[in-house]
Amino acid sequence: MYNKIMEYVEYIKTDDGSIGLFDKKIGDIYHSKSGALKEAFDKYINPSFLKEKSSKSKEINILDICSGAGYNLKSAILTADNNCKVNIDCLEINSDVINLSPFIDDLINDVDLKILLLSEVIKLNNYDYSFLNEVLKIDTSFLCPDMRRFIEFLFTEGYLTKGSILNRSFLHNIYYNYVSNNTNYTPNCSKYNNINVRYFIGDARYSLKSIDNTYDIVFIDAFSPQKDPTLWTIDFLSLIKSKLNKNSVLVTYSKSTPLRSALLELGFCVGKTFIDKLDMGTVASFDSSLIINHLNNYDLKLISTRSGIPFRDYDLSLSYNQIIKNRDIEMSCSDRVSMTQFLKNYY
Ligand SMILES: C[S@@+](CC[C@H](N)C(=O)[O-])C[C@H]1O[C@@H](n2cnc3c(N)ncnc32)[C@H](O)[C@@H]1O
Repeated sequence: MYNKIMEYVEYIKTDDGSIGLFDKKIGDIYHSKSGALKEAFDKYINPSFLKEKSSKSKEINILDICSGAGYNLKSAILTADNNCKVNIDCLEINSDVINLSPFIDDLINDVDLKILLLSEVIKLNNYDYSFLNEVLKIDTSFLCPDMRRFIEFLFTEGYLTKGSILNRSFLHNIYYNYVSNNTNYTPNCSKYNNINVRYFIGDARYSLKSIDNTYDIVFIDAFSPQKDPTLWTIDFLSLIKSKLNKNSVLVTYSKSTPLRSALLELGFCVGKTFIDKLDMGTVASFDSSLIINHLNNYDLKLISTRSGIPFRDYDLSLSYNQIIKNRDIEMSCSDRVSMTQFLKNYY
């Protein structure tokens, strides 16, 4: 299924019913087939201690690397304590997926949250509403029905003329007065007043260099290291490290050996995210009390093999092909035991 807004992206229904994406150019999925929304909670929100952290703090800063369709972002907003101010910086290279994020059928039936994102996305597009035409071309089965009806209404009533300033409370009023079927509901524009979302469009390596902030929680949701190691290099992780405090938590779906090895080399305590007793991701922090399932002897031995050699990108400028090629050379020159040899001896 193609259209202009998502030239290289296909849509799939994942096992929990939420819509996931697949990037044809990279040949990689955006979301787990077992459930895009489920994955956000299992691999990001729960292991990050967001609920606990936000209930104990007045303010919390989150870095959402590879924000995409915004599953981690939206799940974080839904989870954070209402009394905590939550600032979320979203780094993403493809503005089309950000434009899609308020509309994708993610099973999150919270229109206040979608309107919050829609108003941010409209700002990001400098009040040029042409991207909404593209959203309307997407097969309806991939879109939240309420949000689709809402854009149609805005078009037919003439609200979407170039440059007209539609802010969040205005969008709320229109939605609840004219589009919502729920007559008992009063618009709640202040529901997410504690939430601050900022989008940074571009390569996350360059965006992050330019941001002066410290984060309590970091989500890394880049394509898999085998497909594109750009955001899994020890050098990019070191840049992230420079933006953390001693209690920060970094979480990712990846359980790759070079990633875990790089995190250990950078001085993090590293652990695993278990889902149904399976190793399904990585958690890292300088505070070991935040690591529930530490790496075991097998994981550490694996890290000491050639497969534990990290990806490198000294000045954060290499192409993914170059990063892979350089690591292959480093591995072939290394006197570490190969992973195949290690596995033979281990079992
Ligand atoms: C696995 S998907 C992330 C899914 C996302 N978290 C969500 O909830 O939909 C990977 C995302 O990384 C983005 N991406 C790829 N390379 C990037 C880079 N160098 N900098 C920033 N974003 C990048 C892709 O456009 C894609 O949206």
